[in-house]
Amino acid sequence: DDLDLGGHAHFMLKEIHEQPAAAAAVIAGRIDERFGTTRLGGLNLTPRELRAFKRVKILGCGSAYYVGQMGAQMIEDLARIPADAEAASEFRYRNPIIEADTLYIAVSQSGETADTAFAVQEVQRKGGYVLGVVNVVGSTIARAVDGGVYIHAGPEVAVASTKALTNMGIAFAMLAVQLGRVRDLSVADGKRILAGLQAIPGQIAQVLADAEPAKAIAAELIKGDSAFYIGRTRGYPVAREGAQKLKEISYIHAEAYQASELKHGPLALIDEQMPTVAIIPDDELADRNLAAGEQVLARKGPLVVIAHPGVDVSALKVPTIRVPKNEPELDPILLTIPTQVIAYYAALALGLDVDKPRNLAKSVTVE
Ligand code: AGP
Repeated sequence: DDLDLGGHAHFMLKEIHEQPAAAAAVIAGRIDERFGTTRLGGLNLTPRELRAFKRVKILGCGSAYYVGQMGAQMIEDLARIPADAEAASEFRYRNPIIEADTLYIAVSQSGETADTAFAVQEVQRKGGYVLGVVNVVGSTIARAVDGGVYIHAGPEVAVASTKALTNMGIAFAMLAVQLGRVRDLSVADGKRILAGLQAIPGQIAQVLADAEPAKAIAAELIKGDSAFYIGRTRGYPVAREGAQKLKEISYIHAEAYQASELKHGPLALIDEQMPTVAIIPDDELADRNLAAGEQVLARKGPLVVIAHPGVDVSALKVPTIRVPKNEPELDPILLTIPTQVIAYYAALALGLDVDKPRNLAKSVTVE
């Protein structure tokens, strides 16, 4: 009802705006300034045990899987352990090899997603150790795992997940720091990431305050039946999640591509009817990402950009949303926020049921 909506038109918008507070909640009490590390109390692993893992495998479904991909990149960057993410819905069916020196992590907002819960069982049956990154306290996955991190996002009602995903990203960053600090991550680098984490709540508020161009961008996207989201390396999971959000609530087909792969096929689809959303972080690939944007424009494809302030997009002359820069490892968390707002305004402009999209349930408890 109106009371629960807290003055917002939809739960999704309410939950988008709860993100600064939710982000602060997942960090609170878990930072150890002195030693440049995090204190995640529920891992049930000693530093020695934490250090013994040789690989990390993250399992989740849908958007949780895409955030898992961000998490795997953070873990590789900060802890220098090979890490990857896989759709939990596929993992359990392919007779996966379970290794005692791999750390498995199940990520789920609801903690009730059947595919993810079964993946946890499959790992445990074969002797693997599984951590949970879960929102709902006492949920099936939270109870099944060997240890874990609650993400403290608070109740999420809208089918399209927003604040839970942001908090999952932050939880992965904190886990990556803790894994890193029992390995080769220096105190100084640990402190650098901690400072970046503490800046996130305020920066999310800034993104939301500056998100006005999202309405015009949404208006552009709803003209077509289909859209591309492009990004590279750290920008790629952002593109995947952005495309997912648009699909879920606006029913516009959207596909994420590595910008580097455009020329290997999908460029053939670019024309006046096919808009592209380019994610352009201020990193060593910015020039290449800008060049990909130019290729889209050269084929008359409408282009919109989500970029850091340091990226010079002036030559493109296209609608742009600016996102504050953080530490490179943490950038995907903030770059994702405008994609939520764009999807929201697209669904709103199309008159669709933003909070309860057709054919979808908040938690998928069947296989
Ligand atoms: C997110 O917007 C989607 N509704 C969906 O992909 C979701 O993330 C997925 O079903 C996993 O749900 P969970 O986090 O509750 O396990």
